[in-house]
Amino acid sequence: MFLPSPWRQFFPGILALAEQQQTWLDSAATAQKPQVMIDTLSQYYQQGVANVHRAQHQPGERATRAFEAARSSIADWLQADANDTVIFTKGSTEGINLLSQALAHHFQAGDEILISAYEHHANLLPWQQLARARDLTLKVLPMDKHGHLDIDYAIRQLSTRSKVVAISALSNVIGHRQSLQPLLAAARKAGAWTVIDGAQAAVHQRPNVQQLDCDFFVCSAHKLYGPDGVGVLFARQHAVTALRHWQFGGEMVRRCDYQQAEFLPAPLGFEPGTPSTANIVAFAATLDWLQSLDSQAIAEHEARLHAAVLTGLQERGMQIIGSPNCALISFNAPQIHHSDLALLLGEQGVAVRAGHHCAMPLLQSLGLAGALRVSLAMYNNGDDIQHFFSALDQALEILQ
Ligand SMILES: Cc1ncc(COP(=O)(O)O)c(C=O)c1O
Repeated sequence: MFLPSPWRQFFPGILALAEQQQTWLDSAATAQKPQVMIDTLSQYYQQGVANVHRAQHQPGERATRAFEAARSSIADWLQADANDTVIFTKGSTEGINLLSQALAHHFQAGDEILISAYEHHANLLPWQQLARARDLTLKVLPMDKHGHLDIDYAIRQLSTRSKVVAISALSNVIGHRQSLQPLLAAARKAGAWTVIDGAQAAVHQRPNVQQLDCDFFVCSAHKLYGPDGVGVLFARQHAVTALRHWQFGGEMVRRCDYQQAEFLPAPLGFEPGTPSTANIVAFAATLDWLQSLDSQAIAEHEARLHAAVLTGLQERGMQIIGSPNCALISFNAPQIHHSDLALLLGEQGVAVRAGHHCAMPLLQSLGLAGALRVSLAMYNNGDDIQHFFSALDQALEILQ
């Protein structure tokens, strides 16, 4: 199958894996890194380090400049308005935990939080635990038989009790992209805060937070070809002021004495402690590089790979979960346990994800103990797909 990737050469990790006869089809879990990310990280450390926002010395000023330039460039990538705020986090999980705690004081018993049936645990458990602690109602918006959110039904669920609508822009299990704007607009009208989990979606389409018109948006650098342990929480101007400080420590106070403190506003008031400066700078450099590429060509390439995987799985009688249209496909082989199949694929050098994908309630609702997932990125090529299918055929022959 001739489907070369012009971007593969930029990813030393994917080339190294290929030399080890390993094919990476697990980019939805984490993406391999481009050279620009590795170089930026290394250069940052090689020039001498300092803490940000703490020092009068030159290394400190240089670190602070690089850190704040990274914030501006990430806000740019998100297509944020100048008045909006970008708060650095450890990733999507921390961003949602921050929101669930920093908004909690607004809620009263009986208020509602709405999520979809296909949320990752990261966008379920923080809200679930908040609901349990504060006697709120967690409403789960159902999917139709294709695994798509029923938007009209979801809109009808909104009421004056609705305080938060938190939805993933792309499920990590179903891989179906759909327009959330009508639901977000209705939620805003009902007076609810809108939260978009962009952990999976952001790498396949540059976010436009103004067009989405959401109050909050989270994503993780490591799924965007960036470093581990870093992410962002985007907040619109009117929404950020609703947040109450949630973690406490150095560099987040205006003044304090032994008994009380006055905190800085966002973003610094929500970034106590020493941030992951090198990773944040490398993340911004990765996004700048990403923006220099032909995004349309990447989307077309990923769509071709996606179509090839989907067709090959269907031809082999695999059970596809939902009707995926973007970047990842989850499936099961009839009568075969997903772990057995994943093990045999792994032994043949094919890395796919298998299990409950941190979406246990979704899989349970589908009557599944687990599933396999193939996920694709710009560096995958026709050889990867061929390797996957020859390994799959061999595994099926053994297991059937
Ligand atoms: C849809 C979705 N949301 C949230 C997360 C959590 O991301 P992180 O582990 O980077 O915080 C993931 C990770 O797989 C995800 O797929």
